[in-house]
Amino acid sequence: MKLTHDTIERKTGLLIALVIFVVSIGGLVEIVPLFFQKDLIEPVAGLKPYEPLRLVGRDIYVREGCYNCHSQMIRPFRSETERYGPYSVAGEFVYDRPFQWGSKRTGPDLARVGGRYSDEWHRLHFEDPRSVVPESNMPSYAFLNRSIGGADIKARMSALKMLGHPYSQAEIDSAPAALKDKTELDALIAYLQGLGTQIKSIKG
Ligand code: HEC
Repeated sequence: MKLTHDTIERKTGLLIALVIFVVSIGGLVEIVPLFFQKDLIEPVAGLKPYEPLRLVGRDIYVREGCYNCHSQMIRPFRSETERYGPYSVAGEFVYDRPFQWGSKRTGPDLARVGGRYSDEWHRLHFEDPRSVVPESNMPSYAFLNRSIGGADIKARMSALKMLGHPYSQAEIDSAPAALKDKTELDALIAYLQGLGTQIKSIKG
């Protein structure tokens, strides 16, 4: 069988196989280099894996579905950088599994919310969003004012260590003590207060 245009167009199976082959070359050329590009796979300077309280806070963020209303990804557009700060870069999310970029913005982007408000503001806002932002439609999270279970924190940190997060055994062993007497609200606020604080220097 000669591989002429004519035969290829008559044999649908062959046509499909060749189309997949050609399209996959384009995909591979675009995607594979990203796995080796240093500024995409290396953490930005100063980025550390989440300490236990922030890690618990992050899990609560995921559990409560905050990503349904908030993104954590500032795009490189002036309208975004003027409002939220320097645009997000890949190296900031190396320890986010899974990342919380999101795509829905009922509320504002939270990628750089760390340090923007006091802990007390967050506390009031979670207990009753309308007490600080009258027009807010964010639900109340007053129920998070309860103690952290946290029994599985060591297992969680060990799992992340296996995936390459540089936790030391001492950090893992001392994790339960760091969660003692803390509430879920404390953890969530600690998580938010660290968001996006590694990068202050990139100009938007
Ligand atoms: C139904 C949508 C919705 C959900 C779900 C939601 N929020 Fe919000 N959030 C908003 C809106 C709207 C605002 C803006 C008004 C305000 O500040 O309350 C906001 C504001 C915020 C702010 C202040 C941001 C800023 O820059 O002013 C923080 C922090 C925040 N939300 C965190 C959270 C967290 C954490 C969760 C999950 C526990 C959550 N939100 C769930 C809609 C939502």
